[in-house]
Amino acid sequence: MSALDLALPLARLLDPETAHGLAIRALASLPAGTPAPDDPSLAMRAFGLDFPNPVGLAAGFDKEAEVPDAMLGVGFGFVEVGTITPRPQPGNPRPRNFRLAEDRGVINRYGFNSGGQMPARERLRLRRGRDGIVGVNVGANKEALDRVGDYVSGVEAFAEYASYFTANVSSPNTPGLRDLQEERALDELLARMLEARDRWAPGVPLLLKIAPDLALAHLDAVVQVARRRKVDGLIVSNTTISRPASLRAPQRKETGGLSGRPLFPLATRMLAESYVRVEGAFPLIGAGGIDSPEAAIAKIEAGATLIQLYSALVYEGLGLVGRIKQGLAAYLAAEDRSLSELVGTRARARVAEPFPG
Ligand code: FNR
Repeated sequence: MSALDLALPLARLLDPETAHGLAIRALASLPAGTPAPDDPSLAMRAFGLDFPNPVGLAAGFDKEAEVPDAMLGVGFGFVEVGTITPRPQPGNPRPRNFRLAEDRGVINRYGFNSGGQMPARERLRLRRGRDGIVGVNVGANKEALDRVGDYVSGVEAFAEYASYFTANVSSPNTPGLRDLQEERALDELLARMLEARDRWAPGVPLLLKIAPDLALAHLDAVVQVARRRKVDGLIVSNTTISRPASLRAPQRKETGGLSGRPLFPLATRMLAESYVRVEGAFPLIGAGGIDSPEAAIAKIEAGATLIQLYSALVYEGLGLVGRIKQGLAAYLAAEDRSLSELVGTRARARVAEPFPG
């Protein structure tokens, strides 16, 4: 067990935002190690990129692109930094990050606290030429007059440094942001972002990250627009504004987006619902409540070509990444199947289940 592996659970004694800041500082001070090579069975190709393993770090952990190489060193197959807004902004007042320990969940209402593009861009510039897939998740400033223009500006700013882009239109913590998931607004956003991508960063994949709270008729429209505009992939999902009846922790009443274990049923159902609608037009990244090898396998079977996690690190520590990879490789060997053969095998079964409440 590494020192950091010990440090993350210990950090639970602190206020979550303070603990997170300390973890980032500790990671930033580590000498950048090279990750141990992954079992070849874990390799995955998606949107033109070769992933050494399918386990990614979800956006929000490294909002400012301070520790992508440290997290790749921990064993993640890819790291998504951000959300980054064009101009610096403070986000919502503290406290704004809450642990739901009894439920193994997290509620956050950060509201895109961001140092803005400039410092993140400089840090990514300094790591240019290094190996490792680092996606950049972009968003809009709270006070933006032209929200779509903010997303376009993210594509331009990070064109030389992003392995892929994510358009985050699904954070519940910036008023009105999720309206960009409405059919017409989404169509315009994607048209303009793809135009910017083709101009500044040709060939760099552009992914869309959606909320798990869309009604299924709305998901129909979102997938239709995404397919028509030819986005390169979909991330399902961001945090939920819903509060499952199973929640026990007193913090469940806090405003914000819920993630971690209690998000798993809804996010996985929405992933499967997306998978059956996308019909292989592009790959999906599954996020929401992955905290074990079993959860990772279920996510892949529901339709995820790649997976991402964040909240479970709070409870399990960084050792979780290795445990998931090991469990997944062992499962593939026992089943005598390839990773890509597993993708979506249980999507139809999952959409036939009663909708998670
Ligand atoms: C997030 N998430 C997130 N997503 C995003 O696109 N931009 C962001 O800035 C953030 N910020 C953020 C902060 C915190 C504290 C958490 C817990 C989460 C959402 C995250 O990337 C992921 O989609 C969900 O949390 C679901 O995955 P987990 O956490 O259940 O594994």
